[in-house]
Amino acid sequence: MFGPSSRLLLPLLVASLVLRTSALLNPLAPLNLQITKNATVNIPPTLYGYMWEDINHSGDGGLYAELLQNRAFQGVLPGTLNALNAWQPYNGPRLSVTSSTPGVSAALPNSLQVQIPAVVYGPIGFENTGYWGIKVQQGWTYTGSFYAKSDTFCGAITASLRSSTGTTFASATLSGISSTWQKFTFTFNPTTSAPDINNVFHVEVDGQEAAGQTIYFGMFSLFPPTFRGRKNGMRIDLAEALAATQPSVWRFPGGNNLEGASWDTRWKWNETIGPLESRPGRVGDWGYPNTDGLGLLEYLNWAEDLGAEPILGIWSGISIQNYSDLTTWPVVPEADLQPYIDDAINQIEFITADASTNEWGALRASLGREQPYALQYIEVGNEDQFQPASYAAYRWNMFVTALSAQFPNLQFIATTYPSTALNPPYMKIDFHEYNSPSWFEAGAFMFDNYPRNGTQYFVGEYAVTSTNDTNALGTIPQGRLAYPSLAGSTAEAAFMTGMERNSDVVFASAYAPSLQHIMNYQWTPDIITYDAGSIVKSTSYYVQQMFSVNRGTQVLATSPASTNDTAPLYWVASHNNVTNILYLKVSNTGPDDLTAYLFFDFNVTSNIGTSVSISSPALSPISGQFNISNTLTEPQNIIPVASSFALVYMDKYNYTFPATSVTVLSFEANWSM
Ligand code: AHR
Repeated sequence: MFGPSSRLLLPLLVASLVLRTSALLNPLAPLNLQITKNATVNIPPTLYGYMWEDINHSGDGGLYAELLQNRAFQGVLPGTLNALNAWQPYNGPRLSVTSSTPGVSAALPNSLQVQIPAVVYGPIGFENTGYWGIKVQQGWTYTGSFYAKSDTFCGAITASLRSSTGTTFASATLSGISSTWQKFTFTFNPTTSAPDINNVFHVEVDGQEAAGQTIYFGMFSLFPPTFRGRKNGMRIDLAEALAATQPSVWRFPGGNNLEGASWDTRWKWNETIGPLESRPGRVGDWGYPNTDGLGLLEYLNWAEDLGAEPILGIWSGISIQNYSDLTTWPVVPEADLQPYIDDAINQIEFITADASTNEWGALRASLGREQPYALQYIEVGNEDQFQPASYAAYRWNMFVTALSAQFPNLQFIATTYPSTALNPPYMKIDFHEYNSPSWFEAGAFMFDNYPRNGTQYFVGEYAVTSTNDTNALGTIPQGRLAYPSLAGSTAEAAFMTGMERNSDVVFASAYAPSLQHIMNYQWTPDIITYDAGSIVKSTSYYVQQMFSVNRGTQVLATSPASTNDTAPLYWVASHNNVTNILYLKVSNTGPDDLTAYLFFDFNVTSNIGTSVSISSPALSPISGQFNISNTLTEPQNIIPVASSFALVYMDKYNYTFPATSVTVLSFEANWSM
């Protein structure tokens, strides 16, 4: 049976079988992993990205670079203390928010009423404390503005950036106030940086000159330099961090924040466009006013800046009155739904229509964007599995029937559970999961058996949220994570290997939620946390980056395949046929270092390979280190380590994957040679 050469092969074969068998029996034994040239799946270019909504002050106070909180008194009740959120008096004026005098625009009826006492010593005014602080940076030009009017006061107004203890970093003196609203604009160029973020935007007038008089102010704004210099743009450090992960999808504007607590308080696209003075803002679903300064066009421009495919959520006729009582959620009856469908058609025309032939396209052009935006994907609602009956009965059908007739090239994503039958049948469906590390590790194989029937998943929200297997959305004492942990992120990576291996049926994914202001948030953990001055990239951030930046075009078959039996090592191999790079992405979710003997069914074309990896600080397990996180106070506990290595053989390599780690190995492999 065996010829001469087989005699040589036999011991090798036996040895390899022994090794393999022992690997299955003994998880610490080295794994023999053969990487073939057989492409199993073409990887869609949309595989990795983010879901976006204003939650945790991710927009206002986060990515949106505006520095002044409650800048136009949107979404507040005049006369209440709450209406003065982030504003404080300086040297004794009486401050209130009022709508009893016309506001700066119909959309912004509220203004700040500043009543100066009859007797004043020195300057008097008010301050905005920003989004829990303001970063003052030498060399930056800050661009500011506000509206003011007074029937009697006509003196100068001085605006400045100061520390909370009174050090002035930059100031501008403005004159010309009259009895009608006027917009004052100015710039600040601080010559020194503030040592911390305890700084305010300060406005004052001369006390003697203003004594006994009333001055009204409205619609303030103060911007630092923004990402790519876009007007009304993004905070540079956050934008750069997100951009550095090269996301290829951007799902917006929610999430629950699309839906509103009532139909009327839903996210309305047409109230988020145009001059800031014409955007009324709204109280978002996460409990704080949204300025909507980050509006539809800003989102679309941002997606373009990222090179990401926009996935636009359109309101599908439900709101969330009381999150924990589904019976309270207002659902638009079938007979009343058409106006909302018409509104969605207008919205999509605004985004995609020819400016010369369509009124909504012309409106877009009048706002500075002549060229239509590329738009392929419409998500009909958000988490409609919570109201499946009306979705299945008429909402999905009415939206999809009308929109596909109008926009035949669009693809529609359903948001019920896959088991809910829809008419027309869904071809793409959104799947959300917030859960424990063990759920995500097991989930690495959930797509292996997904039916190959033409329907595809969009994993539209996912994250490890807790160590608690039975209550993943509970409190921190119950196991909820404050920040992504290394153990959680390795579990996410394990799951992502499953998405990538099955990216014929998972066409896109979106980590969520993405950003968190440490001073005011509703959801943990998040991929980037920040305050007014600094940011921290989490372990999950690095996993997203490692998976997204290192993209193959095709998945390669391996032997063995990554299965439950090969856990706690999880992997996916891929090849990029443009760059001729072979990738092996491996998550080791276990507590031990694990070695793999890698065998290639081909010769790599360079003897230099590279690795990038996150793992606990020491290479061997340290008790308690697996729940380690990067935090604002310890931002660099875990950062990716990149290295290159030389291969002795062009068809094999041994690598030890550290305990609780995620690694991407790259090799040059030019098939065409
Ligand atoms: O990501 C936070 C919330 O979780 C989203 O708004 C919602 O879609 C999901 O339930």
